[in-house]
Amino acid sequence: MSAAAPDFPPGFLWGAATAAHQVEGGNRLSDWWAMEESGALPFRSGDACDHYRRFAADFDLARDLGHTAHRFSLEWSRIEPAPGVWDPDAISHYRSVVLALRRRGLEPLVTLHHFTNPRWFAERGGWLRRDAPALFTRYAERMAGALPEVRWWFTINEPTVYAKNGFVAGEWPPKVKGSWRRAARVLGTMARAHREAYRAIHRSLPDARVGFAHSLPWIEPCDPGRALDRLAAWGRDLLLNRGFLSRIGGARHLDVLGINYYTRTVVRWAPSGLGMLAGRECLDPHHARGPVSDIGWEVYPPGLGHVLDRYARLGVPLIVSENGIATIDEELRSRFLRDHLREARDALRRGVPLLGYLYWTLMDNFEWTLGTRPRFGLLANEYRTQTRTPRPAALELARICRSGRLPDTR
Ligand code: FCB
Repeated sequence: MSAAAPDFPPGFLWGAATAAHQVEGGNRLSDWWAMEESGALPFRSGDACDHYRRFAADFDLARDLGHTAHRFSLEWSRIEPAPGVWDPDAISHYRSVVLALRRRGLEPLVTLHHFTNPRWFAERGGWLRRDAPALFTRYAERMAGALPEVRWWFTINEPTVYAKNGFVAGEWPPKVKGSWRRAARVLGTMARAHREAYRAIHRSLPDARVGFAHSLPWIEPCDPGRALDRLAAWGRDLLLNRGFLSRIGGARHLDVLGINYYTRTVVRWAPSGLGMLAGRECLDPHHARGPVSDIGWEVYPPGLGHVLDRYARLGVPLIVSENGIATIDEELRSRFLRDHLREARDALRRGVPLLGYLYWTLMDNFEWTLGTRPRFGLLANEYRTQTRTPRPAALELARICRSGRLPDTR
């Protein structure tokens, strides 16, 4: 490689990712909102970042920060407020969002499902129902028809996180606890939904690049010398990382894989019914741990390199569709960003087909059951006045986006 070659190729997609419920505000027709209102969840999303109204100003900021792409999700419950009823205002809103991005030179990457469901869908049994894939595909088809300017489509965000938090941990809607059986069923239904939506989007938009965003922590055994810990790590990796990919038929139903990478998970063997294979997260103080974010996630940049190497073997292009840190330590955020981008650069040098990097997230937002305390944003958000202020890492990322080079390229 010549000394003048940039670290990241021209056309590399640079930007941030968001999700409707976390930023838009007033998502009244979703199952999350219903549960927030019932008091079963610890926080209410309320106006969130009021991004539904402020999107144009937010995209001005993203453009000014050198971004060339933006990942966001459509809120299904707004678009289809009752079964088979389509809201033309919601659809034209998202069309305006896409056009606003395009006008600013930002490539839109659309997620169809990012954890929230229409209330009617959830009340009918949601992802446990056999007809869920057909209902989801009808919505996907409708949106592919309505947004022909969109090339990049992610069907579902983090199916395994959705299934685990909703049906095993019991912390997210529908708050079912301990049911690995139902979690497995949800994943089966989501896999079918992905495959059917993949085909439907391609029918409308033959050039579309369709994938999903997969939560891919790097998983390691607590004591690598202990066979049972190794089995637990292997089992968790199978259940959470590799299982869903094989259920969707791997590269046959993927034009791109979105990698959401935040941390590593260290696990030890812990016999516990059906979930036994997944082991338990290990807090062994003897295990070397890196710095930890404000929500307890270990910072472990090499894991991104390992994950990129491993999933490059699928034979489809990869995009880092989420990577970020909740912290108020700006030095730590900048270091997090640099160290993970170094991993991305090194992966590219090894030949990994990496097309882009999307930081989680554009501005501080509503972080599910943790409310607005975690500060993940490139832009600090002052919720009372909805004032966004770029953080140092945002400016640092802007320089990298514009030059395609890391600051201390060796
Ligand atoms: C991911 C989610 C995203 C956000 C980040 C912190 O699991 O996709 O919505 O909550 O974590």
